[in-house]
Amino acid sequence: MTVNLKQLAAEKAVNDFVKDGMTVGLGTGSTAYYAIKRVGELVKNGHRLKCVATSLQTETIAKECGIDIYDVNDVEFIDVTIDGADEVDPNMQLIKGLGGALLREKIVASVSKEEIIIVDDSKLVEKLGTRCPLPVEVLIFGHKKTKKALERQRCEAILRMKDGEPFITDGGNYIYDCKFASIDNPFFLESRLNVIPGVVDNGLFLNTATAVIISSPDGSVRTM
Ligand code: A5P
Repeated sequence: MTVNLKQLAAEKAVNDFVKDGMTVGLGTGSTAYYAIKRVGELVKNGHRLKCVATSLQTETIAKECGIDIYDVNDVEFIDVTIDGADEVDPNMQLIKGLGGALLREKIVASVSKEEIIIVDDSKLVEKLGTRCPLPVEVLIFGHKKTKKALERQRCEAILRMKDGEPFITDGGNYIYDCKFASIDNPFFLESRLNVIPGVVDNGLFLNTATAVIISSPDGSVRTM
């Protein structure tokens, strides 16, 4: 039987970190999907949880699983958020956003006491930017100018497309996927990106993860 690595990491995260009465942030993506399903089982079994979604897609899946979704504005804080990632470096710094939800994910993470990241070990990298591009969410207004400013940071910025049209985020913005040779200093890069007019946010999640749960093809799961 083949092991479902995403499910393995996701279920361990929910089983270890989600307790009755908590406010829980629900991540976005194919790994977070299994965490949402497990949270749905807990709710069916009587857990009283207040859940906040990091995307419209997650909100839809959660509701299908019988989970009530709260607006992030209506909760004081979030006890624990469980979310996926696209890259994790040895210091638990992350790239997120290949699923397009980076902005809401970052807002939810910023009000979460614990941010538990669930990945299979193919997402582990020595240096950020070596496995996948860095997604950067930008305003549609002037986006070609923003692209030029992004490329001055020594990357190739490619407008994300979907079905032949630019991909639109839940916030109504575009995403440029920025290909770097590698990101040697993510903190410095973040500070440069954040001052480019038109940049709404970027997929660097620095000092955000409080734990990373990693599944491997041999069926083992470890926590970083
Ligand atoms: C969504 O915008 C992303 O940040 C996801 O958390 C990330 O892309 C991981 O997704 P998968 O679990 O589908 O690989």
